[in-house]
Amino acid sequence: MKSKINVGVIFGGRSVENEISVLTAIQTMEAINTEKYDITPIYISKQGQWYTGEPLRKSENYKNMEQLYASCTEVYLRPTYGDNNLYKVKKPLFGNDIVTKIDVIIPALHGTNCEDGSFQGTIEMTGIPYASCNVLASANGMDKITMKMVLKESGIDVIDYTWFCDKEWFDRQQAVVERIEKTLPYPMIVKPADSGSSVGISAAHNREELVEAIESAVSYSKRIIVERLVEKLKEINCSVLGNYYECEASVCEAPIRSGEILSYADKYLGGGATKGGAKGGVKESRGMHSTVREIPANLTENVTNHIRTTAVETFKALSCDGVARIDFMIDEADGNIYVNEINTIPGSLSFYLWEATGVSFTALTERLIEIAFQRKRDSSFKTTSYKENIFNYTVSGAKGAKGCKR
Ligand SMILES: Nc1ncnc2c1ncn2[C@@H]1O[C@H](COP(=O)(O)OP(=O)(O)O)[C@@H](O)[C@H]1O
Ligand SMILES: [Mg+2]
Repeated sequence: MKSKINVGVIFGGRSVENEISVLTAIQTMEAINTEKYDITPIYISKQGQWYTGEPLRKSENYKNMEQLYASCTEVYLRPTYGDNNLYKVKKPLFGNDIVTKIDVIIPALHGTNCEDGSFQGTIEMTGIPYASCNVLASANGMDKITMKMVLKESGIDVIDYTWFCDKEWFDRQQAVVERIEKTLPYPMIVKPADSGSSVGISAAHNREELVEAIESAVSYSKRIIVERLVEKLKEINCSVLGNYYECEASVCEAPIRSGEILSYADKYLGGGATKGGAKGGVKESRGMHSTVREIPANLTENVTNHIRTTAVETFKALSCDGVARIDFMIDEADGNIYVNEINTIPGSLSFYLWEATGVSFTALTERLIEIAFQRKRDSSFKTTSYKENIFNYTVSGAKGAKGCKR
């Protein structure tokens, strides 16, 4: 009997979105067709250790982390190209230290160290196919400054913004404030460039609030972006699935927020929830799937078409692979539409948008696996090294000849 393809679903990570990623991963593992695929859950702890084991597939087990770790096996992947094995950290006295072989990876990670290219770089070293953006697209997609630069250069509308680094703030606060005020009108919105889930983001209606908002943002990130705040804001999200050569947009959704900005609670606790318990929302988070939303978003056909086309253009401008969610802002004061951001590994992998488009979550995971294998096949045609050994060509007599080109 032909053995099944083993899918490593990797999640968690050193990110403020660690728990949200657990929920995305559990939903994804439940959706994968187990007649065709085996599943290996791999959880990266908040401290950065990797674990595998069946208990990782149940959300209630995450209430007691020590117990969860004790019931799992600590593992690692070797950064050696072509080595697909998942190894035990504690080498057993007898038997081998290989837990399993991973054929393909679905990263269900969100945020810093996870969605920003660092994880993708680690996997690139092993050569294991993985179903998400590569290093470049992940890094560009994660950094709200670089992302907006790329999109602007590609002719895609983004809101007016300015940016700076924390050191400038620490050294020349007054000058930074004056420069921002010269560039943008109040109200503004201040964001750490590479955070997510609305963490560290605040609105500023005057100088005092601006200083306060920046103080908060610099505690999360080195790079800070300040944007004009759209006061009459309608938010629309649209997912894109595929790769540069072949991709399609999902239906659009309108997430419903409880305050001025879409908060962490709006996103994951079903609206306006406080830490002590959800008020009027769901009790247990289902990750991004918990957001109160309108699907499909109530928009004119023209606006829907514009957003879906721009979502695909954004996906291509950043050279994405896999499933991404592109978030838009409609300024209802003048009807202008801006791309706010891309999420290269969206919460719940945007499965609810694909279901509404007619693609089941199981079919979505199947497509992600295909995309991963296709990129691996495509990259195998590219030259990565030369057969000739440059040291056989050194010019005799030349002391320490530096890379003589022939
Ligand atoms: N320029 C803006 N004007 C008005 N509201 C904004 C603006 N940028 C972001 N927001 C609000 O803040 C939320 C979080 O900002 P976003 O850039 O999406 O960061 P994150 O990566 O944390 O989701 C948005 O969903 C929206 O509600
Ligand atoms: Mg967002």
